[in-house]
Amino acid sequence: MGFAKMTQVAHYAPSRIVTNDDLSQILDTSDEWIRSRTGIGQRHISEHEDTSDLATKVAESLLSKSGLSPLELDFIIIATITPDHNMPSAAAKVQGNLGAQNAFAFDVTAACSGFVFALATAEKFMASGAYQKGIVIGAEVMSKVLDWSDRSTAVLFGDGAGGVLLEQSDRQHFLVESLNTDGSQWQNLQSGRKNLSSPFQEIVKKEPSFLTMDGRAVFDFTIRTVSKSIRQMLDHYPEEVDYLLLHQANIRILDKMAKKISVDRDKFLANMDRYGNTSGASIPILLSENVEKGLIRLDGTQTILLSAFGGGLTWGNLIVKI
Ligand code: ACO
Repeated sequence: MGFAKMTQVAHYAPSRIVTNDDLSQILDTSDEWIRSRTGIGQRHISEHEDTSDLATKVAESLLSKSGLSPLELDFIIIATITPDHNMPSAAAKVQGNLGAQNAFAFDVTAACSGFVFALATAEKFMASGAYQKGIVIGAEVMSKVLDWSDRSTAVLFGDGAGGVLLEQSDRQHFLVESLNTDGSQWQNLQSGRKNLSSPFQEIVKKEPSFLTMDGRAVFDFTIRTVSKSIRQMLDHYPEEVDYLLLHQANIRILDKMAKKISVDRDKFLANMDRYGNTSGASIPILLSENVEKGLIRLDGTQTILLSAFGGGLTWGNLIVKI
């Protein structure tokens, strides 16, 4: 038996910043519309970097902060819906870039919930006692899967990566977990349709491979279903949580969820104004920024709730003594 502890956090975003005003040059939109509907002011956009490049930067930063050699890593898990390839995984490329020859590596596909699903998976590896150190990263280049002529989706997303180093601890830090999927609603949010074919099959219709979304349905799902799941989790947890780090989709979603959950709005951290929605990267970027600011400490004294939701549809919550 073992206990996983997040001992380091790091994040990275491409240097190119695209503001709402920049977008209004190429789309029929405005800073006013985007800010008032979403709370987003700008996003980082990758020009030359792929998901594995962003994730490698985060992994290198985690190693340099901890003073560990890449050879000490037992696993690398990357949550992404924008991997460079289907095969190999982004995680395998990161393992190669780092020279982390002793680590097994794979990707997790759970869209915006990916980091929470990956972290929960990694925690089980650590709990088995068989592994000592591992890295979990959420990394995305959402800009490469958007339809840049569709103003209703193009303005929402951004690129970036964030991650954590897990090490063994003598006490339990991951306290409560809930992971969920409703595959019957997959069509409300999808991207990367493969349109695979073979000489034995005639394709009747090619479907779009870029991201499509039923914004209203996703909005309703988060307010009803995800809020309820967070409330239920808090009802069964005897102590106060210090901060709630929710997936950074949209400030109106965050405001409404805070009301529905009946927790002080100040406890909900946010940074989508500067990053947009970075899918699986949003929670670890938010976590890393707030550790840098000193608001969240990695000393085992605070309790945080991580809540992610997105395509699948998927949603997952973790309460962690950080
Ligand atoms: N700029 C200007 N006008 C726009 C834009 C834009 N970027 N996008 C849409 N509009 C227009 C529409 O065309 C529509 O015009 P019409 O009334 O003339 O037809 C009008 O604005 C209203 O459109 P709605 O889609 O009804 O806008 P709404 O107020 O519902 O906001 C939004 C859209 C922000 C996407 C909202 O539905 C929402 O927050 N949904 C949640 C989805 C989300 O955040 N998804 C992120 C990915 S999912 C995830 O991470 C969990």
